[in-house]
Amino acid sequence: MNTLAILWPREERPVPQSTEWRPTRFGRDVHAGLRAAAKAIPAKYFYDSHGSALFEQICRLPEYYPTRTERKILRDNAREIAAIIGADVEVVEFGAGAAEKVRLLLDALPRPAGYLPIDISGPHLTEAVAPLARHYPDVTIRVVAGDFTQALPLPAPLPQARCRVGFFPGSTIGNFTPDEALAFLRNAAAMLRSEGSQGAGLLIGVDLVKDPALLHAAYNDSAGVTAAFNLNLLQRINRELNGDFDLGAFDHYAFYQPTQHRIEMHLVSRRAQTVTLCNQRYSFAAGESIHTENSYKYTPASFRQLAEKAGFRPAAMWTDDDSLFSLHWLALPDA
Ligand SMILES: C[S@@+](CC[C@H](N)C(=O)[O-])C[C@H]1O[C@@H](n2cnc3c(N)ncnc32)[C@H](O)[C@@H]1O
Repeated sequence: MNTLAILWPREERPVPQSTEWRPTRFGRDVHAGLRAAAKAIPAKYFYDSHGSALFEQICRLPEYYPTRTERKILRDNAREIAAIIGADVEVVEFGAGAAEKVRLLLDALPRPAGYLPIDISGPHLTEAVAPLARHYPDVTIRVVAGDFTQALPLPAPLPQARCRVGFFPGSTIGNFTPDEALAFLRNAAAMLRSEGSQGAGLLIGVDLVKDPALLHAAYNDSAGVTAAFNLNLLQRINRELNGDFDLGAFDHYAFYQPTQHRIEMHLVSRRAQTVTLCNQRYSFAAGESIHTENSYKYTPASFRQLAEKAGFRPAAMWTDDDSLFSLHWLALPDA
């Protein structure tokens, strides 16, 4: 019988509706982001429970190729991936979301010992992981609700596991600038290595540079779900930080920036306006934007170079027939 433990750092617990200033990390980051000369809010704050549910809808959209493409790469190559990773590992998933792709991995691995999903969207993750606990009774499951860009103490490695293996699908790495991605990979390497462990590494999904028209369609879907996902950030601010954003006064705007190989997502003010949250006022000029997300695209070579700089050894890569998406096995030297 497996164990399902939930670890929830104080800063990440859900915040009830508030009418007063609450010094949460979310509040501090939103105020700092709106005070900046170029307004910006980190993409990780999209993911409250509603944002996570909207992201699941995005994954099912016809225009959103990454999810189905990565799933196909995983399914088509599951045997080879499992042979490389081997038996008795604890899978640590960064940004597990709906915890669906990991089933393909757990089903393929011989005798997986544990599963440790991490996500900033705690209640959503806890709900998503419950069926896995029933489906994989021999896998020790420990859920960590937290922010993997901050110091995040993980439970000790399982004694029955040979090593920890990271799983980071969905091209969430693309939400970081290249410098942030390097810092994340270095931090992930430190989290995955433990004294005497052998065979640790990271299986990571990375979106590839491609025809900008395909990218544009993926982030501007005809059903408007990505727009709703983007605007939900303002709704979250209204709810958790006592804001008065008028959602009808901001437009979703996403475009490909070819020189930086990234999609930028913004919320653009339709008119000059003032917004108040937690008794602080912020002015917007007509056309001024809040930069809400970057989604960097890599070439296989540029990603391998980044991984090497972070101390990994890029050992294998799988892609689809149209080279839309890539899955990399990054090995770590034995501890
Ligand atoms: C692009 S979605 C990918 C979800 C899923 N892994 C997939 O492949 O479909 C990003 C996921 O990472 C989580 N996330 C984003 N930033 C995070 C952070 N700093 N710490 C922990 N989780 C984060 C989000 O809540 C969300 O579930």
